[in-house]
Amino acid sequence: MTNLVEFDENTKTFHLHNDLISYIFQVEEGGLLSHLYFGKRVKQYHGLMKYQRADRGFSGNLPGSLDRTFSPDTLLQEYSSSGIDDYRTPAVIVRQADGSYSSRFQFDSYEIQAGKPMLDGLPSAFTENDSEAQTLIVTLRDEVTQMKLDLLYTIYEDRALVTRSVKVENQSDNEVFLKKIASMQIDFPNQKFDVINLPGAHASERQMERSRLNRGLRSFESRRGSTSHQMNNFIALTSPDATEDQGDVYGFSLIYSGNFKFEVERDPIQQTRVVAGINDYNFSWKLKAHETFQTPEAVMVYSPTGLNGMSQTFHHLIKERIVRSRFQNMDRPILVNNWEATFMDFTEDQLKPIVDDAKKLGIEMFVLDDGWFGHRDDDNSSLGDWYVDKRKFPDGLRHFVDYVHDQGLKFGLWFEPEMISFDSDLYREHPDYLMQVPNRAPSPSRNEYLLDLTREDVRENIINQVEKVLRENAVDYVKWDMNRHLSDIYSQALPADQQGEVYHRYVLGLYAMLEKLTADFPDILFEGCSGGGGRFDMGITYYMPQTWTSDNTDAVARQRIQYATSLVYPPSVMTAHVSVAPNQQTGRITSLETRATCAMSAIFGYELDLTQMSAEEQAEVKKQVEWYKSVRHLIQFGDFYRLTSPFEDNGCAWMFVSPDQNEVVVDTFQTMSSAQPLSTITKLVNLDPNKQYQDLETKKIYGGDELMYMGFFNPLYHHDYASKKYHFKALNRH
Ligand code: DGJ
Repeated sequence: MTNLVEFDENTKTFHLHNDLISYIFQVEEGGLLSHLYFGKRVKQYHGLMKYQRADRGFSGNLPGSLDRTFSPDTLLQEYSSSGIDDYRTPAVIVRQADGSYSSRFQFDSYEIQAGKPMLDGLPSAFTENDSEAQTLIVTLRDEVTQMKLDLLYTIYEDRALVTRSVKVENQSDNEVFLKKIASMQIDFPNQKFDVINLPGAHASERQMERSRLNRGLRSFESRRGSTSHQMNNFIALTSPDATEDQGDVYGFSLIYSGNFKFEVERDPIQQTRVVAGINDYNFSWKLKAHETFQTPEAVMVYSPTGLNGMSQTFHHLIKERIVRSRFQNMDRPILVNNWEATFMDFTEDQLKPIVDDAKKLGIEMFVLDDGWFGHRDDDNSSLGDWYVDKRKFPDGLRHFVDYVHDQGLKFGLWFEPEMISFDSDLYREHPDYLMQVPNRAPSPSRNEYLLDLTREDVRENIINQVEKVLRENAVDYVKWDMNRHLSDIYSQALPADQQGEVYHRYVLGLYAMLEKLTADFPDILFEGCSGGGGRFDMGITYYMPQTWTSDNTDAVARQRIQYATSLVYPPSVMTAHVSVAPNQQTGRITSLETRATCAMSAIFGYELDLTQMSAEEQAEVKKQVEWYKSVRHLIQFGDFYRLTSPFEDNGCAWMFVSPDQNEVVVDTFQTMSSAQPLSTITKLVNLDPNKQYQDLETKKIYGGDELMYMGFFNPLYHHDYASKKYHFKALNRH
């Protein structure tokens, strides 16, 4: 295998590269690491980006030096320390035993390893064999405090990305406290950037925003203990002219499911720093003498071909090296979920007709959502009591599961394992399991409370209960929900000076549970959920190959949510369902066709009472199911490209193309109709210009070049919320 990482002893320069990208940094004066370049592959670095020296007032110099032209405050750094002479936001802050917050990490040594190490207790991108990647570990040390940092960089041979994380070791004999420890930092020289981020709210996740980056510090973060609906753990920096298909784009994301912070600082001389990792909000980690701490992993993507190029790199990484379940490449079943059909008001006898209709219509799995356990008739009780409610299933859950299986359907079950209700046997027996601050009443949210997942005994109790249900009931699929964010942060199991660890320890506890459960039940398909897409991140995706994208099932709102979610996540990890009209979240009335066109562009299902549909509607559902099955593999595992943005236009378009460019599905949507409609065009991308493609509906034939360069007119609709899907196949395949 060729070298992916090189170190030039003369210039003290590290160069990570493959055919697509180069990532270059250097050991500078004072042992500081200076970032030089991240972008398109350059064969060799000859020193053009060396730090430009200047005597700048109020930017201090290295101790003991009379040279006023070198300042850590203006150096483009690779991983910055705090409390001395770089006034920009730092990557690491350590409170020393003597109370000082200052450190200066300097280059010590490096090592290059084949492959990529897994991170203890944390999800990360993996390799299938050691020859596909190389890892550079650069060791920095602070001589005064005896702290050691290992900066881990992995480059794959064929991906336009670098993964990074940091391991800290306290080599002193004193106890110290980590106050901030980022997973990555990158400093860019003066250039114009736009920043794209994904803010949102419950039922309105990942609404894409883009703005010009000006001087000052901006942060994009979650303080909710979870990735959150309110801000996804991703940002992109783009050249101002970047579009979906051209321009420079840098994408940054974390393989993590807890509090995070992305800081973007444009400094006084218009250089840009990005620092990302665990949020330092109320964070404090005690590191005793000789202990270590490992940060979550960050993924840094570079694309010279716009946002679609960035998304392709994220999508392939997620599909191939983040989703590790045996379902990684398996077509996912079409399901019907009873949540929006019955909510918690059901019995076995009322559910059976839905199962019967599902079978008749070709649906492949029935998912029993919230309300099957304890005595849960509404959301005020029973979380923590994971045993079946005999009022709803008088002959036990297995009796119903057998019925579902006998109809040839798989069976899925909902859990919310991280929470507890006051009205539960679990709380009556173990009131101390609840996360709460001494002498302070905990805050309810959806009238539920958090279990203290930092505690092993709490985790064990829940896992034992859940595993018993799974074992006894031959469950094929689990929906793991989380319907509130963290509050009242405190663990009775930790001393006062470790309460700043609770947020992160909660996430580590969650990962430990998921590790155990997915190892014990490798044949169960897991779906992550948090009141919809409140915990849509690569950490969850590592354990659970699909995630419920949003509680908002309205087809128009979903176009935006799915479009922006796809910046990072491929359709194969997003789930989408057809529900009733008027929509329960927005009141909007859309056609069954449009609802299905939108839902069929991800992992597909229904979330309504099939028995309430008319014969005509059921016939339409049957056709949708048949159609989806015929294109499912392409939708779930083909390459996905965004074409027209619902954030900018009166509609939306996207497409799926097979890796051999022989099969294409295109979905187009128009939001509002008009008395004077504009003629709009959809142009496809990434086809073979030399192939002929046949539209399977009209049987007409078009060149790949025509479909890409000329495009086609969208229909002129005389109604709102219209949609159309196209299916093309290449004739001259090779
Ligand atoms: C929130 C989820 O997103 C819904 O799909 C449903 O499972 C409810 N929770 C049940 O409480």
